[in-house]
Amino acid sequence: MDNKNTYQPIGIFDSGFGGLTVMKEIVKELPQYDFIYLGDNARAPYGSRSFETVYEYTLECVKHLFDKGCHLVILACNTASAKALRTIQQKDLPVMAPHKRVLGVIRPTTEIIGKHSKTKHIGVLGTAGTVSSGSYLVEIEKFFPELNVYQEACPMWVPLIENNEYDNAGADYFIKKHIDSLMKKSPEIDAIILGCTHYPLIADKIKKYLPKGVELLSQGKIVSEGLKDYLNRHPEMDNNCSKSGKLEFYTTDLPETFDKAATLFFGKEIKSKHQSLR
Ligand code: DGL
Repeated sequence: MDNKNTYQPIGIFDSGFGGLTVMKEIVKELPQYDFIYLGDNARAPYGSRSFETVYEYTLECVKHLFDKGCHLVILACNTASAKALRTIQQKDLPVMAPHKRVLGVIRPTTEIIGKHSKTKHIGVLGTAGTVSSGSYLVEIEKFFPELNVYQEACPMWVPLIENNEYDNAGADYFIKKHIDSLMKKSPEIDAIILGCTHYPLIADKIKKYLPKGVELLSQGKIVSEGLKDYLNRHPEMDNNCSKSGKLEFYTTDLPETFDKAATLFFGKEIKSKHQSLR
């Protein structure tokens, strides 16, 4: 099927702003493709919500992206990848859209993490939902069973970032608290996954409290390289992705508010539109 003349962007979804840190790298890696971003800011954060709620919200947003012409959607959100992706892939897609695909951010991260640790002790920082789902433990076990994985849930970090309080002194207390707690679980940790797409915004603060020599891994580059590789291996999907370099942004909350903060995450000015939830 040749879809050269049809607008078929790649969808990128997050509960709020975090997915923009991933989209920024994806657009750098694949500038010729069209992309639509959807942030569910009206209902963020997802981190402490139940499986059912995260699944229901994520599926609704994926459907909106399908309606806008996407054949491929990336859940640029660890919480949604941990709590909703499998059900969407196994239960919903076969009946709803058998030729469309939804991919997450946990799998590409766990496929490469083993190469970053010499001590074989690694850390995962994430939302309460991502940590309690155990998704990182299960996926890392498949690729690098020799690794010892220590997780730390940081429930205050996303609210601090979403509310633009992360650069203030008060944020340091919560950042240090969780870094200390993680490193106490194993002082041998030499690589840490930022298992939440919001966290790259506070990477510098996190580094301040980490012992020297510990590598901090953001997912943007990992996911963008993984997506490029996926499109190379799936020409039938690549053919369903239009390529005119167009970027669109949608938020389920107020576009004016979104645009202000989103620019910090994306590194460029953004003009978003409203996506109604009903
Ligand atoms: N960016 C989401 C993630 O990667 C944030 C989760 C939230 O909304 O709490 O997990």
